[in-house]
Amino acid sequence: MSRILTGIQSTGTPHLGNLLGAIIPAINLSKETSSESLFFIADLHSFTTVRKGEILKENTYATAAAWLAFGFETETNIFYRQSDVTEVTELTWYLNCFTPFPMLSNAHSFKDKSNKLSTVNSGLFTYPVLMAADILLYDADIVPVGKDQIQHLEITRDIAGSFNHLYPGSFVIPETRVDKKVMIVPGTDGQKMSKSYDNCIDIFLSDKKLRKQIMGIKTDSTPIDEPKNTKSCNVFNLYKLLSNDKQIEGLQSKYESGGIGYGQAKQELFELICEKFSEERKNFNYLMENKAIIEEKLQSGAKKAKLIAKEVLKRVRSNIGYQ
Ligand code: TRP
Repeated sequence: MSRILTGIQSTGTPHLGNLLGAIIPAINLSKETSSESLFFIADLHSFTTVRKGEILKENTYATAAAWLAFGFETETNIFYRQSDVTEVTELTWYLNCFTPFPMLSNAHSFKDKSNKLSTVNSGLFTYPVLMAADILLYDADIVPVGKDQIQHLEITRDIAGSFNHLYPGSFVIPETRVDKKVMIVPGTDGQKMSKSYDNCIDIFLSDKKLRKQIMGIKTDSTPIDEPKNTKSCNVFNLYKLLSNDKQIEGLQSKYESGGIGYGQAKQELFELICEKFSEERKNFNYLMENKAIIEEKLQSGAKKAKLIAKEVLKRVRSNIGYQ
């Protein structure tokens, strides 16, 4: 049985782009396969940029609550918080000693920020090594990631390869899986939805705030009763991602006949989101009001994860000759 593993950065409450582009496909993958899935919240990685413990904690709960609200099964899979399995930091050290400095200085995660070196901490520099440890600590066979993480996976494979060269049989070399179908979800301004562009639709907000975000979607100035272009319309493009063929046709014909203004189209999108995610929004709120449930699930996941981590770390330590 192959083992699938992936990590999720906890940067706050997941928005519609995170949900459609990453969380829902990953949950579907975990249901489809007969593999064992490990999913964790990468709160040690978040610490490279978020220093406040309270915020880290809250972000972790919000991320976990979103996964759980969308039906991630924690009995059959292993769902945990990275920082609960402290073995990962020990393995990071061993891997650090096998990581060539130039390999890290060429990593995008660092290079992108290297024009402002004074703001870069060593944690950010060695981010890919911690990520390698995340993967190698669990003998993962397959790692599903977005395109932006391919280089990190190459680094992981390189480090594991050179470690195995000196200490044969230490690590399983993981395979990268990039889902090409993963959809890019447009934000309220038409660019890719992202927290850093401030263009998100946060489905877990209250109705009032959610409606306000949707009403803020940018549209052109075509008058109410004139035909509208569906292709270039941000409202239509979002509607399309969430609805069935019949609903799409319905809205499309209203656009083409000039039978709808943008305000009305936004209202339809708002209603669609409320209806489609009504259970999930309720579940999310319930979990966020009852964080002990989330905590209990993360703890039981960490227990399962630790069993694997301890075995692998024991193997590595004994290969090196520590003990
Ligand atoms: N760096 C990944 C991201 O930002 C998150 C991550 C951390 C991860 N450790 C991982 C992904 C291990 C896959 C495997 O998306």
